[in-house]
Parts: sequence; structure tokens; C-alpha cells
Amino acid sequence: MNYENLLVENQEGIILLTINRPKALNALNQQTLSELRHFFGEAGPKISDLKGIVITGAGEKSFVAGADISEFTTIDSAGGAAMAKNGQDIFFLIERFYRPVIAAVNGFALGGGCELAMACHLRVAGEKARFGQPEVNLGIIPGYGGTQRLVQLIGKTKATEYLMTGDMIDANTAEKLGLVNYVVPQGEEVKRAKEMLGKISKKAPVAIAKIIECVNGYFKEDIDGFAKEVEEFGETCGTEDFVEGATAFLEKRKANFKGK
Ligand code: COA
Repeated sequence: MNYENLLVENQEGIILLTINRPKALNALNQQTLSELRHFFGEAGPKISDLKGIVITGAGEKSFVAGADISEFTTIDSAGGAAMAKNGQDIFFLIERFYRPVIAAVNGFALGGGCELAMACHLRVAGEKARFGQPEVNLGIIPGYGGTQRLVQLIGKTKATEYLMTGDMIDANTAEKLGLVNYVVPQGEEVKRAKEMLGKISKKAPVAIAKIIECVNGYFKEDIDGFAKEVEEFGETCGTEDFVEGATAFLEKRKANFKGK
């Protein structure tokens, strides 16, 4: 699939995925969502020796300024529900991706942009980044998981306030709230995200994939996260990487993991 609105660059095993609609502050229109679905559902998993993915926004001003409001005018109730379901499903693909996905938030991360960042496993923000769920200003609510993931990440008290007021959250406040992992000087978001992926890529890939599954399991009502941890722990114990990791420790050398 040729992407119109996504730039995909393989930088030594780290994919830099840039949402590229700077004239609309990288708003997520349906075309961009389809492209994200294709990338995380089909293209991404096929990349060999993938260390992880960094998602950022084109231009200096915005990560993603939300769903594309110009596509909202003809939506009715059923259309809105279908749109939200589609967006949620795509963001689940990101949240459940087997390699780490980091949002490098270089500016506005509003509405669907905040929801996209929250669906990633980790978040790095530039000093000028602004987060928020301003849907209430349009008379709607977040539809791509915002009411759920904001509560998961920062807790019910502040999440309810931000959802109800639509207020923006500056980068330093976002860090204090636990919405982002790190705030870095403006322009250094991608660099820091890649450094994080470089560090994680030295760990056993099977273990990283299972950490993603277990952490996600904490938030799923139909899953007993502790039981899932038992199951996944058992599976990691059956890997060649576990033998290598334990042997390397005993031999006082660095482990050389193969992802098996
Ligand atoms: N959907 C579609 N277009 C959008 C957009 C969105 N979510 N956000 C910004 N744009 C467009 C603007 O319409 C404008 O287009 P134009 O140049 O053709 O007029 C362009 O991007 C630049 O935006 P502008 O509003 O002029 O920039 P600003 O610096 O004054 O304000 C924001 C930046 C992010 C505060 C403001 O654009 C905004 O509030 N956007 C909507 C955020 C939102 O409500 N998101 C949730 C949607 S559910």
C-alpha cells in the first residue's frame, strides 16, 4: 500500500512513522486512519529485526491535532459510533503491537492525537507539547479510547477534570501526572524515543512482547492479569533467550538475545 499521509523510514531497525498532514496540523482523517490500520495490522509485523516504532507529527507545531473535524459535518449517530469503533480498533492494534511503540510528541496532541499518543506504550514530549481532550468544546466526547486511557494513565480525579473542561495539559504537567515518560528540549523527542528503543532492543524480544501483553491485561476485565503473568512467565522460561540470559549472567558477560 502506498501511503498518502504516513512517512515510513527505517532507521537502523527503528521505524520512524510520521503523520504527514502539516497543513491540517496532522489531523487524523479517514485515509490516515486506514493507513495506520494497514501499517500496524499488516506492514509493521513483517519488518524483520524490528527494534520498535516511533510515531511523530510532521512540522514544528503539532503531533496530531485530533480527528479531522472537516469530516464531521455529515456524521449521524450510527456513523459516529462506527467511526469511534474503527478508531478504537486501530488504536488497539498499536497498543497490542508486539514491539514497543513510542509517541514522540512534538506539539499539539489533542483529541485523537492525545488518544493516539496514549495508545502507544511510552511517550516522550517536547517542551512545547500540549495534550488534551477538547471534544467537549464540539459537543461530543472522545471516541478513540480517550475516556478510558486518560483515566488509566493519570487517574480518575484529574482525568475527569480534563475530559469535562477540555483544558490543555502542558508538557511538564503531563510528566507530573504520569501522562508522559519524559519531557525533553523541543526538537529532541525523536532522538530520546530512539535512545529508549535502543536500550529496550537489547533485552529479550519475547520477554518485551509478553510485558506488553501482561500490562495490557491489567486493564482488561475479561483477563485475570495475575493468571496471564503466570502463563507468560512460563512461556518465557521455555525460550532460548532465557537460557542465554541466565548463562550470560553466570558467565559475567552480556546476553546475546535472538528473539527465540
Ligand atoms: N481537524 C481539521 N483541521 C484542523 C484540525 C482538526 N482537528 N486542527 C487544526 N486544523 C486545521 C485548521 O482548520 C487550520 O486549517 P486552515 O489553515 O485551512 O484554516 C490549520 O489546521 C491550522 O490550524 P489553526 O487553528 O489555524 O492553528 P492555531 O495555531 O491557531 O490553533 C489548535 C491550533 C490546535 C489549538 C487549533 O487548530 C484547534 O483547536 N484544533 C482543533 C483541536 C480539536 O478540537 N481536536 C479534537 C477534534 S475531535
